[in-house]
Amino acid sequence: MKGIILAGGKNSRLYPATMAVSKQLLPVYDKPMIYYPLSVLMLAGLRDILLISTPQDVPLFQRLLGDGSQLGMSFTYAVQHEPKGLADAFLVGEDHIGSDTACLVLGDNVFHGHGLQELVLEASALQSGCTLFGYTVTNPQDYGVAEVDAGGRLISVEEKPAKPKSSTVITGLYFYDNDVVEISRNVKPSARGEIEIADVNNHYIERGAAQLVHLGRGMAWLDTGTPEGLLQASEFVQVLEHRQGEQIACIEEVAWRMGFIDIEQLARLGEGMRSSAYGRHVLRLADEGSQYPGRP
Ligand code: DAU
Repeated sequence: MKGIILAGGKNSRLYPATMAVSKQLLPVYDKPMIYYPLSVLMLAGLRDILLISTPQDVPLFQRLLGDGSQLGMSFTYAVQHEPKGLADAFLVGEDHIGSDTACLVLGDNVFHGHGLQELVLEASALQSGCTLFGYTVTNPQDYGVAEVDAGGRLISVEEKPAKPKSSTVITGLYFYDNDVVEISRNVKPSARGEIEIADVNNHYIERGAAQLVHLGRGMAWLDTGTPEGLLQASEFVQVLEHRQGEQIACIEEVAWRMGFIDIEQLARLGEGMRSSAYGRHVLRLADEGSQYPGRP
């Protein structure tokens, strides 16, 4: 399975904060926002990732993340000239996907919680159809809303409806079989001129090939779309990290625990950031790991 992170768009709801730099490069507490969705793809075992962003921002992401070899991964980059819609990611990413299955994550989605890795690992084994993740919120009208029957089966998805049919919304993490490229190619732009991911999902639902996995209340799915949401997400991460002495979405740690890099490489990566608490966390892990070989 190939991974795609969509990290473009105008993000004008955060202006002026995002006038000169992409939203997905802004910090959520102590690390760039992009680390959070990237770490979810890594937890799913995906190592071959395409990052899509604007012509101005792609070089900044390249500066931050490089070619991925430092993490035992492969990062490639593609430009989306205009925000044509979420499903455009599969057209921009067509060559990257090739004949493989694909996972798309939105670069502004922050997930955290118990059991997340099991869920995404299972989804990454998908052979046909699609797997979507639902979450209960108080403001469903701001998202893609799921209509679900009494048995919990997905009936339809509606993008930002005035009258939501449920409080379950579709999060920005999507797993698809290879048909997603062809389906996206045939989606007509909506009234707002975008190739809607809701249309892609409805196509899979009509085929009876869409699975909805509900993320329960043990899981946090945070909004980063407004100044308040961004601040609350930062506070959430700060509280947990401070309380537990652990890091959320530390990509060097995830790479090591997933077996993408060895302990020596983990130590090298930590060394380059030793002036920050984040870097010292990486160094501490490398130190502890070398005392207890075979730990991750
Ligand atoms: O976060 C989950 C929600 O994401 C879903 O529930 C919705 O169904 C889905 O449409 C999307 O809603 P948003 O209102 O967050 O979509 P937005 O247009 O803001 O785009 C999401 C992110 O993707 C944002 O950071 C900008 C980026 N983007 C968006 C478009 C349309 C791109 O990079 N390129 C694009 O063409």
